[in-house]
Amino acid sequence: MALQPESGQNPLLDGLRIEPTPEPTTLVIFGASGDLTRRKLLPAVYQLSRGQRLPARFSVIGVARSGMTDDEFRQQMHDSLREFAGVDHPNEVSTALARSLSFVQGELDDPGLYERLCVKMREIDAPDGVLFYLAIPPTVYGSVIERLSGAKLTTPRRSTGWRRVIVEKPFGTDLESARALNAMLHSHLEESQIFRIDHYLGKETVQNLLVFRFANGMFEPVWNRRYIDHVQITAAETVGVERRAAYYEGAGALRDMVQNHLMQLLALVAMEPPITFSAENVRDRKLDALLAIPPLLENGASSTNVVRAQYTAGWVNGTEVPGYRQEEGVNPKSVTETYVAMRLHLDSWRWAGVPFYLRTGKRLPKRLTEIAIQFRRPPLHIFKRVSSSAISSNLLIVNVQPDEGISLRFEAKLPGTRMQLAPVMMNFRYGSAFGTAVPEAYETLLLDAMLGDPTLFARHDFVEASWALITPVLDAWRASGATEIPTYEAGEWGPREADAMMGADGRRWRTL
Ligand code: BG6
Repeated sequence: MALQPESGQNPLLDGLRIEPTPEPTTLVIFGASGDLTRRKLLPAVYQLSRGQRLPARFSVIGVARSGMTDDEFRQQMHDSLREFAGVDHPNEVSTALARSLSFVQGELDDPGLYERLCVKMREIDAPDGVLFYLAIPPTVYGSVIERLSGAKLTTPRRSTGWRRVIVEKPFGTDLESARALNAMLHSHLEESQIFRIDHYLGKETVQNLLVFRFANGMFEPVWNRRYIDHVQITAAETVGVERRAAYYEGAGALRDMVQNHLMQLLALVAMEPPITFSAENVRDRKLDALLAIPPLLENGASSTNVVRAQYTAGWVNGTEVPGYRQEEGVNPKSVTETYVAMRLHLDSWRWAGVPFYLRTGKRLPKRLTEIAIQFRRPPLHIFKRVSSSAISSNLLIVNVQPDEGISLRFEAKLPGTRMQLAPVMMNFRYGSAFGTAVPEAYETLLLDAMLGDPTLFARHDFVEASWALITPVLDAWRASGATEIPTYEAGEWGPREADAMMGADGRRWRTL
């Protein structure tokens, strides 16, 4: 059963929608020749331009160590659109956009770079609303922010101007470093100028969770311990470590995926309703959700709440792939985890006694992110006598990706003269319901930062609360001095230990 917008019309064609447009903006990208800029940022800017979401006065200034002329930077944009946005030939939009691009070269710790940046901004008469994007390694955030501030670039020239900074992940490597990073940022910028990006928050289905929960009268009354048995959040990837061993070896799945993306999903599922949809209200309630989680380690390193594992060689999507320790750039004795499963509780009136299970891993059989809300079984099986089939409990699945949508499983009577029950699914799919592709997370987030709306960005206290939960686990793993950790074969759904964790609670991971 597929769901359609009620009127049968495409609501996106509704002429009454008023889309806010940012004030004139200069986007300054530090790390302009890097992967993120080519793969995500330039394609996102292009799509925004195509959708007429950019202000009439808009400039992009690329900054990088490697030298490029303005024209070379423009060519890089066309190349990246061809490779990552399917724009095979320059068109009207991309040609116009290219004209708004320019480039400044320099070492990030060289004050001369920032002087040249000021000169460039004057030269092109750059708008005074400036969004700095730090698409650079976290080790150099400090020197860039200090020098931006030293060159007075963090202060607008006019009262109508503004200055904002988007900080990419990873935001710290543990609680202490995240606190230090926050303190460094706060010594040069107001919190309202800081946009800590977590691209999961820009995903359409993730935002839809708020609408689903708080714009419908049906779900919120059952969104609690009385009706919900448990929650499973899965972020499965088929890719391995790719060419990112230098970063991933020091990170691992807990830092790379759980501390940020999975904690954000968890908070959106578990949060209390905010009073308004304002950035502060929404982020206050999300923070409350994290603060309600008791420490993960009950007995130091022997916690049964967290399982880590690493993939060994195997087959994914019909291709033979090496084990993590055999990947290029990985230490052959590495104990970096590529998989994490964990069980969390929230000590709150709404959630006491309802476990939240989180799992994420690389080289799993499918790329799929979903949130599954498993409801309790009906208390009385009144059909016990007439139906031999077991009743399965209701299940609500939020498909974050790749098949964005929401599904509800419920019991129905099998057609026939006998009373037999079978589970059926009611599906809402973005693609078919609205007849449009969902925007890329980076489009939404870049636009929000230009508009000055931080609702979908991580606040300093949320980031720290998340690290406060995760850091003791990292410490315990390090202190254990383990030279081996559990393994799973590439192409399998994780290690036995993760199944055992669920099994101990009398539950099973969903088969995906
Ligand atoms: C990134 C992680 O933040 O998210 C990557 O660093 C991971 O390791 C990626 O592959 C997953 O994002 P998505 O949008 O593909 O689910």
